[in-house]
Amino acid sequence: MATVLILGASSDMAIAIARKFAEEKYDVQLAARRKEEISALKPDLAIRYNIQCTIHHFDAEAFSTHEDFYESLQPKPDVAITVFGYMNDNEKVIRDQKETLRTIFVNYAGAVSILNIIALDFAKRKQGTIVGISSVAGERGRQSNYVYGSAKAGFTAYLSGLRNRMYREGVHVVTVLPGFVYTRMTENLRLPPLLTAQPQDVAKAVWQGVRNKKNVVYIKWFWRWIMCIIRWIPESIFKKKKL
Ligand SMILES: NC(=O)c1ccc[n+]([C@@H]2O[C@H](COP(=O)([O-])OP(=O)(O)OC[C@H]3O[C@@H](n4cnc5c(N)ncnc54)[C@H](OP(=O)(O)O)[C@@H]3O)[C@@H](O)[C@H]2O)c1
Repeated sequence: MATVLILGASSDMAIAIARKFAEEKYDVQLAARRKEEISALKPDLAIRYNIQCTIHHFDAEAFSTHEDFYESLQPKPDVAITVFGYMNDNEKVIRDQKETLRTIFVNYAGAVSILNIIALDFAKRKQGTIVGISSVAGERGRQSNYVYGSAKAGFTAYLSGLRNRMYREGVHVVTVLPGFVYTRMTENLRLPPLLTAQPQDVAKAVWQGVRNKKNVVYIKWFWRWIMCIIRWIPESIFKKKKL
């Protein structure tokens, strides 16, 4: 049986992804900073889907623990998915260095740190799929969230390079670019219902991305075109917009 590792397993998005892979008969390794948040999920997945489910402590910002964390996993996963992320109000973030660094550390440095370790193991085993949940926010910097957006932009570029580096090793890399999704991260925002996805939509798209070896996945089809238009707006016009 194949095993999926879910990093940042306490979010609604991660829980939906865990359920989808369990339904497809994957054993599930749930890794989270606050293990108590997901303790009830373990028996639920194991009994409902008749799979093995284990819980592990993982903190994306505790870089020095990442080697030992991955070393401790038994068995090593076939699919690794980074779901963790952090977003706060941009005006607060730019006034607070701790918030600035947290945004960069969680969304970029933490993801790169753990995925370097996982990718080298997958390359040695000549198999595996890595999924990075990045964001459409990384496709162009906007005044409303450019610290978070720039960390996600770095992560998206990293995943592109990793896919290129890993291709000849037999390792596949899927970049997932959600638009708006109803989760804890966005609960204080007024989201346009027609443009907003549910965590289950993300789970389905991630599963299809892994199964069909997709490179870049958008959750709702129109986001690809929305971002295409946003990227093409000349900077001289873009800088005057309230976006
Ligand atoms: N919601 C959206 O509209 C949207 C859009 C585009 C992309 N995304 C991306 O989708 C992913 C999931 O986000 P979400 O919307 O489900 O947000 P969320 O509910 O806020 O979940 C974020 C997850 O990241 C975890 N996390 C934060 N800091 C961590 C750390 N240092 N180490 C380990 N885990 C950490 C959180 O764990 P704790 O429970 O311990 O805090 C939580 O499980 C993120 O990468 C986000 O950037 C979301």
